[in-house]
Amino acid sequence: MDTLQRDYPWTRSPLVACAPMRLIALAPLAVEVSKAGGLGFIGAGSDIATLASLLSEARQLLSSSVSLATHDDTLPLGVGFLLWAFSTPPDSLLAVLAEHTPAAIWLFAPRRPADLQSWTQRIREATRGRSKIWIQVGTVAEAISAVKDCQPEVLVVQGTDAGGHGLEAGAGLVPLLPEVADAVSSAVTSSSERLYMPALIATGGISDGRGLAASIALGAQGIVMGTRYLAAPEANISQGYQRAVLRSKDGGSTTVRSKVYDGLRGTTDWPRHYGGRGIINESYRDALAGLSAEENKRLYDEAVKTGDAGWGEEGGGGRLTAYAGAGVGLVREVKRAGEITDEVREEGRKVLRRAASKL
Ligand SMILES: Cc1cc2nc3c(=O)[nH]c(=O)nc-3n(C[C@H](O)[C@H](O)[C@H](O)COP(=O)(O)O)c2cc1C
Repeated sequence: MDTLQRDYPWTRSPLVACAPMRLIALAPLAVEVSKAGGLGFIGAGSDIATLASLLSEARQLLSSSVSLATHDDTLPLGVGFLLWAFSTPPDSLLAVLAEHTPAAIWLFAPRRPADLQSWTQRIREATRGRSKIWIQVGTVAEAISAVKDCQPEVLVVQGTDAGGHGLEAGAGLVPLLPEVADAVSSAVTSSSERLYMPALIATGGISDGRGLAASIALGAQGIVMGTRYLAAPEANISQGYQRAVLRSKDGGSTTVRSKVYDGLRGTTDWPRHYGGRGIINESYRDALAGLSAEENKRLYDEAVKTGDAGWGEEGGGGRLTAYAGAGVGLVREVKRAGEITDEVREEGRKVLRRAASKL
């Protein structure tokens, strides 16, 4: 049996998951995605103080809807953590995970590879192996090291088109995913330690069923989308930000991966080799033109006070950060998260069938 079907029995294949976007993917978004046969992740990021209440809210939302079939009595959703803030998971966090046992725990951006090992081991101990480990990687080397050190159940392979943070130096999914698949498969086969093959999930620039179909063709068993879910009413996102996403086209030229946005927002704790992909705005253009970081920050802080207007209008003017991926041009309307999940999965299946019938 497919391990994803075993561990997440309420989901439908191919798996469609929502990225654990910090501050944006909270309980309502994650629950709606899971209810539609996908896997919703709550983005806890590095803030563990609110985790218990987020999970209680999710539990409550789930209890008021049809009950989803789960494995090992887990909570039918996931939680994502940014590891750079803690080299090992704090005991208070482990206690919350032990109480709620989310079906999946997503780990990303450790300061050192060894931190992944510590997180994996301690989470498995706390949840008695019931919460399965997902690790997001951006290179072949990261993938091999994660598999050897941690044996995650799932590797999320992040292509450089991804919105939000990712490696500054990376590759798109087309070359990255097959090379990761080959390298991990050969590491597993040649290992003397009885390694097993994790499920591979593609992410980065996927906004519709065509992206899903392409990912399956590349060797993935499912996908994660972040940017597409920014245009869902259940996303915790301001209207100005959502409108900036909806009017952006041609994401290859209108988004950029950079450290400028971290500087303005004060999120400068990210390890050096990560940058955040967001929509190009006045702050970025000014930084590029040589405006000092201090003056740029002052203008940014002024823009924050203007609320939604800080993200600008058609034609520009925005200074506030709108993290989004290169697939932003395919995000054209607001739809409920459940509808997005169903639509992308069904369109993906259709595209795959149509392609196969042409052979
Ligand atoms: C607004 C936004 C916030 C994100 N926040 C996180 C996060 O907190 N933790 C994380 O692991 N990934 C985060 N990501 C990255 C996603 O995990 C994923 O790699 C990305 O969304 C995939 O690309 P896409 O946005 O093109 O679908 C974020 C992405 C976006 C767009």
